[in-house]
Amino acid sequence: MRALLLFLARHEGFKNFALNLRFFRNTALRFVAGDTLDDAIGAIRQANQKQMLATLDLLGENTLTRDDANHACREVTDALNKISHEKADCYFSVKLTQLGLNLDPELSFQNMMQITRHARDLGIFVRVDMEESRYTKETLQIVERIHEQLGNVGAVIQSYLHCSEQDVTAMIQKGIPVRLVKGAYLEPASVAFQKKKDTDANFVKLMKMLLTGQTYNAIATHDESIICATKEFALSQDIPKDHFEFQMLYGIRRNLQLKLAQEGYNVRIYIPYGKHWYAYFMRRLAERPANVAFIARNLFRG
Ligand code: FDA
Repeated sequence: MRALLLFLARHEGFKNFALNLRFFRNTALRFVAGDTLDDAIGAIRQANQKQMLATLDLLGENTLTRDDANHACREVTDALNKISHEKADCYFSVKLTQLGLNLDPELSFQNMMQITRHARDLGIFVRVDMEESRYTKETLQIVERIHEQLGNVGAVIQSYLHCSEQDVTAMIQKGIPVRLVKGAYLEPASVAFQKKKDTDANFVKLMKMLLTGQTYNAIATHDESIICATKEFALSQDIPKDHFEFQMLYGIRRNLQLKLAQEGYNVRIYIPYGKHWYAYFMRRLAERPANVAFIARNLFRG
């Protein structure tokens, strides 16, 4: 089921069919703040009121033209102005294929530089999301180049990849802040663990490496057993609560988000917005079969 949904996430024919189903869009809205930046600002305000931080994501990936990549860059810089103007407790997450990585790595580097420089001038941090494994190396190289020059940028490491332990070691050495996730794409056994228990075990191993490092890192998961393991490890090593943060996705495990914030942990909500929600939504469906059952029930109801 997971493989099928991740395959459909990249299937234009199914996309065009699904986008015409109203309940499909309505279900997507559980995971997406809305089409507009104002919708996203509303979601940030709600999170901030509950003592939670936010990171915004302008939805879109695998841009088809250079013009689209440059347009996305301008949209992100406009959004940064708005975050600053609203004094929102929020930073920005960006996918490099939205900025042209799939067309020309140098184009995405230049666009990401522009975004990071603008964010730095406004005192805002930016995070480069991680996509399929074919982009891992180039993405980390771009993050490293920008970090060297500007500083206010961080990376994402996926615990399902065999290479991640090495990448975490490199990030720690270079002082680059990391968001640790399990990984959301379909990857072959040659590059990624295929069993959840192996991905989870690697997550815990990498979490321990990150927490004992000097940088402020993010543990991004809704997995309660891993969250407990993180809390226990931090306690056992006298690592203070403000040395790291938990991150979760908008619309997922809201009670758990709130509970952690009330316990005094830093909690950041990843808030996606914009019209290009299809691929993001399909990845959220793939993560949990119950989400698909919900869609299927609505489909048969017509
Ligand atoms: P797991 O999938 O084991 O889920 C644990 C529990 O969480 C489930 O039992 C369920 O209760 C709940 N849950 C998880 N997903 C759900 C869903 N879709 N709907 C409802 N409940 C759900 N990936 C990536 O490859 N690159 C990236 O840049 C990012 N960025 C990112 C940022 C943030 C803030 C988060 C939290 C996650 C990402 N991810 C990501 C996604 C990540 O790789 C992973 O696919 C999801 O977080 C789901 O995995 P969990 O760690 O939650 O564990």
